[in-house]
Amino acid sequence: MVQSEVYPVPPGFAAQAHIDAAAYERLYRWSIEDPDGFWQKEAAFLDWIKPFTEVSDTSFDVNDFRVRWFADGTLNGSVNCIDRHLAEKADKPAVFWESDMPGESRVVTWGELADKVNRLANVLKSLGVGKGDVVAIYLPVIPEVMVAMMATIRIGAVHTVVFSGFSAESLENRIADSKAKVLITADEGFRGGRISPLKRNADDAVRNQPSIEHVIVVRRSGAEVPFTPGRDLWYDEATDAAEPWCEPVEVGAEDPLFILYTSGSTGKPKGLVHTTAGYLVHAGTSWRIIFDWHEGDVFWSTADVGWVTAHSYKLYGPLLNGATTVMFEGVPSWPDASRWWSIIEKHGVNIFYTAPTALRSLMREGEAPVRKHDLSSLRVLGSVGEPINPEAWRWFHSVIGGGRCPIVDNYWQTETGAVTLVPIPGAIPNKPGMAAKPYFGIRPEVVSPEGVTLEGPADGNMCFRGSWPGQARTILHDHERFLKTYFAPFPGRFFSGDGVTRDEDGYYRIAGRVDDVINVSGHRLGTVELESAIASHPAVAESAVVGYNHDVKGQGVFAYVTLKADAAETDELRREITRWVRARISPIASPDIIQWAPALPKNRAGKILRRILLKIANNDFSDFGDTSTLADAAVVEDIVARRKAEL
Ligand code: WT7
Repeated sequence: MVQSEVYPVPPGFAAQAHIDAAAYERLYRWSIEDPDGFWQKEAAFLDWIKPFTEVSDTSFDVNDFRVRWFADGTLNGSVNCIDRHLAEKADKPAVFWESDMPGESRVVTWGELADKVNRLANVLKSLGVGKGDVVAIYLPVIPEVMVAMMATIRIGAVHTVVFSGFSAESLENRIADSKAKVLITADEGFRGGRISPLKRNADDAVRNQPSIEHVIVVRRSGAEVPFTPGRDLWYDEATDAAEPWCEPVEVGAEDPLFILYTSGSTGKPKGLVHTTAGYLVHAGTSWRIIFDWHEGDVFWSTADVGWVTAHSYKLYGPLLNGATTVMFEGVPSWPDASRWWSIIEKHGVNIFYTAPTALRSLMREGEAPVRKHDLSSLRVLGSVGEPINPEAWRWFHSVIGGGRCPIVDNYWQTETGAVTLVPIPGAIPNKPGMAAKPYFGIRPEVVSPEGVTLEGPADGNMCFRGSWPGQARTILHDHERFLKTYFAPFPGRFFSGDGVTRDEDGYYRIAGRVDDVINVSGHRLGTVELESAIASHPAVAESAVVGYNHDVKGQGVFAYVTLKADAAETDELRREITRWVRARISPIASPDIIQWAPALPKNRAGKILRRILLKIANNDFSDFGDTSTLADAAVVEDIVARRKAEL
């Protein structure tokens, strides 16, 4: 990127924005010098039942670890997300829902949303769900997913949403870990004209999970699906029969709100636990600021409800602010590449939030599908999930945003709850590909491998010093792993797992993961998880997975596979292993390239030298650096020869 490529705040934007450059400087300084004062003011955004008396009690010292915010206050999340908007907005739209099938849509008003949430909360209560119990939600992007989350928290229970593209096995693992009592799913889901058998997967997932007492089934397709009387309930019948008012349950600020699973560097997904008040304060206040949302704006996040992006900035952020949001069930490419743009035009979307991988794939279709639609309603654009390459950034800016919309490239993680780095649109000029500057209360540090905090322009590990209210509090059932993963590597700081560069203007550019996690189309996948799925195939002896540079996905899954002696290296087996991974994890985890390798390069201690495998996967065969630790150098030569032969 040319260093001089800076896009100033668009003319007139700062004057109407919540935060301009001067406000950013002033508030950022305040939030760092007096975090308790700053967050106390932000906490007034919520309606409390009992106000808190102490703002924070935090320490990142692993021997004395504490993260508590607003701890003695009490509240209810669903009251903050719904009830408090009813006086003014009962008949106004909360959700514009667009079906996968063009032409099919629904408008859900705040009043209808409240009615459904109360009824479903009563259903859950009648099934014995109470404070602290876990409700698993395996639903596509339909309004019922919002109802399910809100009903759960209304009674003080804890939701764990599982991406509806995950396999039965992935769902089962999450149920087994969370000990969910009820599962809410649908008969079937639709995406891109294809049907996914959600209820069938759900049945497979709960068969051996005795914690699940009931399964609530939303009728989405109306198809006939297996139904277990006594255990299963139809969502529509149960909610129709339930009372329309459910008294919200008072919970403590630090009581859990939800669990969300994400991949890490070991085989087992981590159930990150978010608590109520801190998360709601951080998600709710930052959403309004970073997207510069104003009353009446229509907001659309294309994220799937299974990821944290959707939790904070498609569901909780808009709900807490009483904002109208678009929910779209389908994919950008079906029935054709103009689908998203038609939805923006139809609903007059003002703020549009998506991921670089989708932009890269739509860019390939050229401008014609975009030109068919009037996108002049757009005022702010957002990007999240992975670093956005400057080409995609410029296309988003000029072709979609007509050159007039700032791009809010916000960097954060499941662990951080909500934003950490972001160019606040009325305050911070854009530099393509840079998540720019810290959000209020966030203290980024660029840390060397030796643990030294670097000053000025620098490359290093992305860390944060000092707590903020929205950060995850623990990994469910594994607090040791939580401390070890995030707080032990660089004492006194939270370590994100990402690499980062800071330039001479103090702008941050995220360089991608530095741990054994790869980012495929904005989805986090642990290489160890992928390797164990591949290695569980009967023909496979061993496998090593690395991420390689992929034009559309950002990173693609490159799997080196060593077969057992009696198995043959055929294309049919490649396809079978791919199907195997899809069934065990999800289609998003499908290997893009499978390279047969009679052996993997290891050191004398048996550790796989991924550095070398990464180079080969990126067709870089030149310099493997220090190879003296290799147990058998011929292994590398053999893989290189095989790889070259396949190119
Ligand atoms: C990982 C977190 C915010 C939720 C998105 C997914 C990458 C996220 C950016 C960005 C560069 C980004 C990081 C991070 N990432 N946003 N704007 N620029 N990289 O949350 O599934 O927990 O994944 O996504 O590598 O660690 P997640």
